[in-house]
Amino acid sequence: MNTEKQWKNKFQISFVAEEHQRIQELSTGLQQLFHGKYLEQLIFENEEADMSVYIGIGKEPLTTNQIIEVTAFASQLMKEYDIKNYDLDVSNLIEQAGIRCLEQVAQGVCLGTFEKYKPYEESLRAFTACFCGIPDLEQRKAKAHIAKGQAIAEGILFARDLVNCPSNQLKPMEFAGRIMKKLNSLHCKELKIQLIDADKLKTMGMDALYSVGNSSANPPCFLEIEYTPKPQSKNRIGLVGKGVTVDTGGYCLKPSSSMAGIKGDMAGAAAVAGAIYALAKNGQKKNVSAFLPMCENRISNGSLLPGDVISSYSGKTIEIMNTDAEGRLILADAVSYAVKKGEVTSVLDIATLTGAVVNMLGFSIAGVLCDQEQLYQQFLKAAKISGEQYHRLPFKKEHEEMIKSEVADVKNMGDSCCGTITAGLFIREFAEQTPWIHLDIAGTAWVDTPIWNYQKSGATGAGVSTIYYLCEDE
Ligand code: BES
Ligand code: ZN
Ligand code: ZN
Repeated sequence: MNTEKQWKNKFQISFVAEEHQRIQELSTGLQQLFHGKYLEQLIFENEEADMSVYIGIGKEPLTTNQIIEVTAFASQLMKEYDIKNYDLDVSNLIEQAGIRCLEQVAQGVCLGTFEKYKPYEESLRAFTACFCGIPDLEQRKAKAHIAKGQAIAEGILFARDLVNCPSNQLKPMEFAGRIMKKLNSLHCKELKIQLIDADKLKTMGMDALYSVGNSSANPPCFLEIEYTPKPQSKNRIGLVGKGVTVDTGGYCLKPSSSMAGIKGDMAGAAAVAGAIYALAKNGQKKNVSAFLPMCENRISNGSLLPGDVISSYSGKTIEIMNTDAEGRLILADAVSYAVKKGEVTSVLDIATLTGAVVNMLGFSIAGVLCDQEQLYQQFLKAAKISGEQYHRLPFKKEHEEMIKSEVADVKNMGDSCCGTITAGLFIREFAEQTPWIHLDIAGTAWVDTPIWNYQKSGATGAGVSTIYYLCEDE
């Protein structure tokens, strides 16, 4: 075998369905069998002495996740061989899944470049895939779909970088700073950003956020981002994300065996930031606002204690039953602010909120609660396009009873059962009459063992793509 050989011309990747087996002549003169089984690969020299790669896509039509997966596989392969420029023949994918699949194709190609502990921008810049096999008449549409897929992938990778960042390097104010810097780099005049610091939180009466954040010498803050591409419209989606940059549990201290992922407790806020970035980059035309409460949950003289009663931005009082149920406290204030001051017509919150959802659904499906059918249908549609997996949970009067308090309006922990439902319902108390949807991503925000090959162990960027599609114009 000649290992010195340079590839003179091009590197072309094609996706090949499993039909009949092919025998391919290799550059070594040997022949090799290729079936086209899902994620099977074959590299060979073609007649023009260019290098060709076949990637199998199996027999069945590909699911959305599989389209992201096969294309991420292609780009990972090129990274492995250090091929910086290559052609990606997408004709078979378009034929099978339609021109819109280029959003997932572009996403997969970008996600495939990701490396942990390296700013995603660097890895992304290093490789260029040239899409070919697109019908002439579809070229304009294709360009738009590819741009959209790339923007979504950037949002996902931005969120991953933030979530993977250790908490000693990402304190609440630094977290806000990173997001502001990223959004400002877009020079988008439809974006308005406001950072509220700890002193201001106190004077505004954001007691729930302030009280959790007061557990640490690294002060809490609140980031409000308004994206207004359509000033004449009254509609505005509010996105609220949990930004606990480290969650020790506070005085209800987590056991050391559960401390491993505590730096990732800001994945909800990171997902919202990633989605807003992608929406603004793509010039989407719906009004969207983000409300990101950021703080640490630690043990100190200033920490909450079980039994404490605090106030909140809404005016409702809260009995603290468990200091480790801090996420719902800071989300309560952010949701209140969104519906009172943020002029939102619907509100979505996303958070790594409960261990219970991990026990129930594992690492590939997130939990959903929603109190309005129309909003839920829109969400379902978005999740279908993104490929992310969600499961809706019910809630009834008896669950609402579980968070009633004798000494305050509400308490921050329910009975021993239904932990995911009662956590969601606690937040709903603060949404007032505004249609509300709640995503618990405690299981899906982080994977130790990747489920799909476009993931890497660590942060997944969960939520970004579905939120993006929920907020894109029809
Ligand atoms: N951030 C945690 C939830 C979590 C658990 C995220 C596992 C990721 C993986 C949250 O603040 C928390 O500690 N929730 C408690 C609530 C309980 C005390 C009512 C939980 O789920 O145990
Ligand atoms: Zn906690
Ligand atoms: Zn938490």
